[in-house]
Amino acid sequence: MAVLETIGVAFWVMLPAYVPNNAAVLAGGGRPIDGGRELNGRRLLGDGKTWRGTAAGIVAGLLLAGGLTMIAADVSGTLGFEVPTFTPWAALGLAGGAMLGDILASFLKRRTGRQRGAMFPGLDQLDFVVVSLPLTALLATDWFLTWFTLGVILVIVVLTPILHVGTNMIAYKLGLKNEPW
Ligand code: CTP
Ligand code: MG
Repeated sequence: MAVLETIGVAFWVMLPAYVPNNAAVLAGGGRPIDGGRELNGRRLLGDGKTWRGTAAGIVAGLLLAGGLTMIAADVSGTLGFEVPTFTPWAALGLAGGAMLGDILASFLKRRTGRQRGAMFPGLDQLDFVVVSLPLTALLATDWFLTWFTLGVILVIVVLTPILHVGTNMIAYKLGLKNEPW
């Protein structure tokens, strides 16, 4: 794959994993997943992980994957290289994995004594990649092996923190998020 193609595929293929976090921020609120429960005197996950935010995130990711699948042929024609369509399992792996990664990150933040909203450099930016890639590999193995080449994975690992910092800064400036990370 040429460099631009690798970057294009990496971005396209990760969109259903990128969008759930932002949808969760917009839709979040209501009952926390952990129901207020604690472990060793600290919240299991915290008030920042809600049922509504998580459900909205997964639905947004699935809808986006469906939309991208409908326009994939046109986009491929315009760009001059092929971008993937998403199978249902691939979409679920990416969107569900992103939300699960974010939840696991909060679990780790609480265990290490960090309050809700505290920064955890590295984990904040890559938590959803670390879970959505393996989950997608598990749920849609052939699809994963076709599209997640080594080059694509390398671009994802570099591109994701940059996009994450950028979108969260924008969400913070717009008053949608309490912290810029
Ligand atoms: N959110 C949600 N459900 C999720 C993820 C996020 O409702 N599964 C919403 C919450 O309103 C949350 C906001 O999106 O406060 C920002 O998400 P995030 O930065 O992940 O949560 P924090 O509040 O920073 O909490 P944590 O320290 O646990 O990351
Ligand atoms: Mg946070």
